[in-house]
Amino acid sequence: LTTDTRVLRGPLLSFADDPGDGDTPAPGSVRHLEDGAVWIVDGHIHAVGDYAELAPHLPAGIETVDYSGKLMMPGFIDSHVHYSQLDIMASYGRQLLDWLNDYTFPEECRFADRAHADAVAEAFLDETLRVGTTTAQVFCTSHPGSVEAFFTAANRRGLRMLAGKVLMDRNGPDDLIDDTRGGLADSERLIADWHGKGRLGYSLTPRFAPTSTPEQLEATGAVLRNAPDIHLQTHLSENEGEIAWVSELFPDNRDYLGVYERYGLVGPRSTFAHGIHLDQGMRKRLADAGANIAFCPTSNLFLGSGLFDRQACQEVGMATSLASDVGGGTDLSGLATLKGAYQVGQLLGQPLTAWQGFYRLTLGNARALHLDSHIGQIREGGEADIVVLDPAATPLLARRTARCNTLAETLFAMMMLGDDRSVYATWAGGKRVHARD
Ligand code: GUN
Ligand code: ZN
Repeated sequence: LTTDTRVLRGPLLSFADDPGDGDTPAPGSVRHLEDGAVWIVDGHIHAVGDYAELAPHLPAGIETVDYSGKLMMPGFIDSHVHYSQLDIMASYGRQLLDWLNDYTFPEECRFADRAHADAVAEAFLDETLRVGTTTAQVFCTSHPGSVEAFFTAANRRGLRMLAGKVLMDRNGPDDLIDDTRGGLADSERLIADWHGKGRLGYSLTPRFAPTSTPEQLEATGAVLRNAPDIHLQTHLSENEGEIAWVSELFPDNRDYLGVYERYGLVGPRSTFAHGIHLDQGMRKRLADAGANIAFCPTSNLFLGSGLFDRQACQEVGMATSLASDVGGGTDLSGLATLKGAYQVGQLLGQPLTAWQGFYRLTLGNARALHLDSHIGQIREGGEADIVVLDPAATPLLARRTARCNTLAETLFAMMMLGDDRSVYATWAGGKRVHARD
């Protein structure tokens, strides 16, 4: 039996805890090594520390990958994204409900064709790895084959991914609508085939309240009750027109969140995308359930959905995660998501520090998704998912970061000016899965 082992050497940044919102991170929350070493053995981190301290313990002749001048961080995490919408990103000029009808639903109909789903799944994973995202919680389409395509591709690459089949048994085109019970039977079969296989996990995926009958939501809740380690992902309170529609469709419920509560869909492994238009009472109910809202800044801006109030969520202890929401989102890059989050924060008087931003992209998202026992930090025993950032990725970035005197300044410049070129290499499960040059 041979072991697959090597050392990645260079500057390293990882969060051990939430750094808080201040300009100075909370004590003990940041681990920064100027000349660090990550010793990887068979996909896991065997040891991490200063290179000089670790060097005497390394096996003779071990392969050493030199990342001096770069910055290693835990692989980025995207808590909400639609792989099937890759090819309709940047479709002009509509808010949510028209955008769904005009672009999204017709595009998703194409995923009835397994070969198409396979091709888009591969393209999507190429792109996510190119921007340093090693884990995502992914909407497939209502076709079971779209889930098989995605899990097959992710498993072959050894990635930690969550995904699920969209449940939608009304208010969509015939080619997307599933059968109330059949959709759940397909989901249960996919859970049996894929959940826990390799690094994969299943997320039950009712699209949103308007496209499921009460019967389908009820049946989804029943599956979730019997499988507490399964995730759930859906959308909540993204757009005013959507909210009005939900109150017409579900007149007996106290509010939009109440629909999901009634059917037992609000729990600690539930992610609700957007959650822009909520009152403090609803935020508190989410906090009490341990659920998280996925803040999707580029999507919220692109679809004109609104400004997400991070501070109001924090006041009641509600967990938030960060997400691209491609194809409503305009960029898969976690750096671009941070830029959008900063811009939204500026408009609300809640500027996002680089410390908080990079924490959110890594350990914060891992915690929100209950994946932090596996990923989110560069730590001994953790899985070896690592993004290697290049602070001098472009001539402009090289000029700008040469002026930075502190790590905080360099991180902020990367989050505002960086893009896919800032990602020098990506490692997942101890394997190099992307190299820029
Ligand atoms: N609400 C229901 N479906 C969708 C979707 O595909 N994208 C977004 N942004 N919101 C939704
Ligand atoms: Zn979405």
